[in-house]
Amino acid sequence: MLAQKRILLIIGGGIAAYKALDLIRRLRERGAAVTPVLTRAGAEFVTPLSVSALAGVKVFTDLFDLTDEAEMGHIELSRSADLLVVAPATADLMAKMAQGHADDLASTLLMATDTPVMIAPAMNVRMWEHPATQRNLATLKGDGIAVVGPNAGDMACGEYGPGRMSEPLEIVAAVERALGRGPLAGRRVLVTSGPTHEPIDPVRYIANRSSGAQGTALAAALRDLGAEVTFVTGPASVPPPEGVEVVRIETAREMLEAVEAALPVEAAIFAAAVADWRVASASDRKMKKTKGGLPALDFAENPDILAEVAGRGEERPKLVVGFAAETDDVVENATAKRARKGCDWIVANDVSHGTGIMGGAENDITLITGDGAEDWPRMSKREVAAKLAERIAEALGGS
Ligand code: C5P
Repeated sequence: MLAQKRILLIIGGGIAAYKALDLIRRLRERGAAVTPVLTRAGAEFVTPLSVSALAGVKVFTDLFDLTDEAEMGHIELSRSADLLVVAPATADLMAKMAQGHADDLASTLLMATDTPVMIAPAMNVRMWEHPATQRNLATLKGDGIAVVGPNAGDMACGEYGPGRMSEPLEIVAAVERALGRGPLAGRRVLVTSGPTHEPIDPVRYIANRSSGAQGTALAAALRDLGAEVTFVTGPASVPPPEGVEVVRIETAREMLEAVEAALPVEAAIFAAAVADWRVASASDRKMKKTKGGLPALDFAENPDILAEVAGRGEERPKLVVGFAAETDDVVENATAKRARKGCDWIVANDVSHGTGIMGGAENDITLITGDGAEDWPRMSKREVAAKLAERIAEALGGS
């Protein structure tokens, strides 16, 4: 919640400026007062009228708007906020900030302020990767400026890579975090993620194709809402998020141990793809190829970590969430799984061939709760994570 918080929002000139309109709405929904500043280039993408209509106040568009210094001078404007947010922050705006230019209203405000500043960069991938931008980024970080995003994905210019501005909800979460106002501030949550590796011998193992992308995005989204996240991960192909406690494990049994050590938590989200079986007696020496014989592998069942935690009495988290990757009868199977495992919610997705979900950037989920099944539109895994984190915060309510 952002009640009584004042945000000065500088809208730079890029196609992502349209997202700034939604950002204003989202900030105001949470109680923040938004004072918008539109750069000259920004006004090429969104109109002053739509910006001020959404903000509910006058939009400042140029240094010379402030001729009435007695009413509100640029120094005062820059300091009357709790946070300055630049979204989108173009390559040009970042360069100006890094160099200390003050030749228009936005850059002057950024130079004159003594309040914290956050930028949400948005630009073409080559511009983002250009050494000059990366140098400017390092300078800005060194100056204590918070940076949210950019995300990787398809770009308006037809290219692919990092450079897309963060989604409005992600920026809101970063703003709340910067102002210590996240709805999950100080709440402990646990996320499991990635595959497990079950050894056959010291060099061979049984694994699965989980990349850990959805679990990682979820841990980052919960962190952004202020939660203290313990992230128990198998050997995933995406790196774990920053700002969370990372516990690396390999096998299902190690995962159970790490999960038990992390309890008690208020919410536990089981996004890991845990192997159902392990080799009963893994060899401690490399198995040799023997003439005329194939090795026989005996399997043993792994502990069901989700069911085990959901079945706890005293230490049961208030909210236990499982994932279900299904290929057919998604709602029916996931509903049955919710009952069987004793968890509160199941996040079900259709991973049948052709959906492109397994290993992809997008997800198409159905959320199964005690109230029934909710079909969510297809969206990026990052957006799924942000929406789920919001729902988790709602479910946990006030402490
Ligand atoms: O039974 P199934 O593997 O389809 O259930 C998936 C859900 O159960 C996921 O949330 C997964 O993280 C969890 N799980 C677990 N321990 C296991 C198997 C699955 O926590 N051994």
